[in-house]
Amino acid sequence: MACRGHVAGRLNGCGNLRREWRATFRGAGGLWKDYKPEELANAEAFAKNPKLVWEWYNHRREIIAKALPNPGHKALVEFEKRKPRFTLITQNVDGLHDRAGSGKILKLHGDIWRMKCTVCGANWPDRRTPLPRLPPHCQCGGLARPNVVWFGEPLADGMMKEAEHAVTSAQVFLVIGTSAVVLPAANLVPYARKAGAKVIEINTEETAATGMVDCVLRGPAGDLLPRLL
Ligand code: APR
Repeated sequence: MACRGHVAGRLNGCGNLRREWRATFRGAGGLWKDYKPEELANAEAFAKNPKLVWEWYNHRREIIAKALPNPGHKALVEFEKRKPRFTLITQNVDGLHDRAGSGKILKLHGDIWRMKCTVCGANWPDRRTPLPRLPPHCQCGGLARPNVVWFGEPLADGMMKEAEHAVTSAQVFLVIGTSAVVLPAANLVPYARKAGAKVIEINTEETAATGMVDCVLRGPAGDLLPRLL
């Protein structure tokens, strides 16, 4: 594959973490305290019972802390080193791209390792697992929430604009490990196509994006991405 100029790529939940994640939250009998993720990852649930929502996030953070970046994450770090205009766009909140060493990341859905004050809006990193006190609070005394985008919430200001700019100025757009159904990120595929980028899907299965892309590579991202370097 010839990748020249601006490459926008995204890697979304693959490898060990996804397997653990499914087993814990979405696999048979794997719901946390009988809650589905969408029942807790929303502002109403948090307003009603912040401690419960934080217990769930605390649990997720403990699982993620044990996961390791896979060869796919590491290959994207290499892409970034070789292509100065590379942009990584992800819906993942797990921070594995940071841990792998990626530097230029647009985290569309935020970051589970950051907190945001519901009162003053301050935003800060906190990697402690487990968190010492639930729910956590800001220095101003306000209740803190995970700095992630919940169901029904918009993306952070300017985030989608930056992502659109990256894909519409890219020559190659790798669409990696996403079902391509969650908006607004799923719109990046037609935007990239329309702007003239070559769009390559890397996924183990057919997705909503498959019919729109120039090239499909079937298989695990952890196997395929290192081979594209
Ligand atoms: N390599 C490549 N593709 C993979 C691999 C792998 N190792 N493992 C899984 N996949 C593919 C699946 O085939 C599927 O198409 O990853 C996709 C995962 O799809 P979703 O679970 O829908 O995840 P995603 O598209 O990332 O979801 C977007 O929704 O639930 C939220 O928090 C989630 O922010 C995320 C958003």
